[in-house]
Amino acid sequence: VRKGFQLRATTSGGVSLYSEAYNETIHPGLGPEGEAHRLYVEQSSFQEKLGESTKEDPLVLWDVGLGAGANALSAVRAWEEAPAGHLRIYSFENDLGLMEAAREAHRENPLHFSFVNHPSIEQILANSVFSAASQQGNKSLEWQLILGDFTGWIEQPRGAIQPPRLIFFDPYSPSRNWRMWRLPVWEGLYKFCREVDCEIFTYSRATGLRVTMLLAGFHVGRGEATGFKEETTVGATRLSSLKSPLPATWMETVKRSDASQPYVADSFETGPIAPEWLKKLAEHPQFL
Ligand SMILES: C[S@@+](CC[C@H](N)C(=O)[O-])C[C@H]1O[C@@H](n2cnc3c(N)ncnc32)[C@H](O)[C@@H]1O
Repeated sequence: VRKGFQLRATTSGGVSLYSEAYNETIHPGLGPEGEAHRLYVEQSSFQEKLGESTKEDPLVLWDVGLGAGANALSAVRAWEEAPAGHLRIYSFENDLGLMEAAREAHRENPLHFSFVNHPSIEQILANSVFSAASQQGNKSLEWQLILGDFTGWIEQPRGAIQPPRLIFFDPYSPSRNWRMWRLPVWEGLYKFCREVDCEIFTYSRATGLRVTMLLAGFHVGRGEATGFKEETTVGATRLSSLKSPLPATWMETVKRSDASQPYVADSFETGPIAPEWLKKLAEHPQFL
């Protein structure tokens, strides 16, 4: 495959892509399709939410880190299978290398990353937009790619972007893609969606991440297991959306952990939480 990427086996016996720049394999457990489906589409009750959408009030999904497109295309496929529904996807990406690598790998072996073989991809790459609709008018899809650094964009959003009801948050991991996980990004996300009922799904279960999300204003809960991860993380603007919110006793884990410091440093750094952050965390409505 293209320079900078390699094919790698996943723990479940499939194949995924490894980025040399980030020294990391995407979706290393279940592979791109399995993880996209399980961790993002299935866990988020995507079909149910799509069922509640209307033309005037579509289901708005933010796909942060388009990458090879596994998560976004998993949502597109779910939309295709649904009897009705109005979906709007905003994908964010600053480097289309992973998408190109997946397309090359698929051309070399059609069994690999077959999800990229979808008519939307050519259009997304050429024009940054794709749309589709049913003749009866009961289904529509609008997909837009916003190219550029997400961390800069979220601090100063531009364009008429609708607040998300769902966010699939899938950068590389905090140690390698630190800027994407820092508090300002979470604060920006929260500011954008605080008025709406929004849920955000991500694969990390790090205590420092959960502390950071809570400090930004989100309610935080445990997410389902995927591959070799026994737990993931879900954030929500409404506590009632969470199936498994972190209980007040979780504060004991925070106090004991040597990696509970929020993600505020300029470069990757973990450590125990400072007393002033702990005080702020204890005031979060989720624990009162
Ligand atoms: C783990 S991969 C995403 C995999 C993808 N969700 C999929 O389903 O194929 C992480 C992606 O985040 C992108 N990314 C990293 N930092 C970014 C930034 N600052 N702004 C926008 N995208 C970024 C990377 O280029 C990479 O494609």
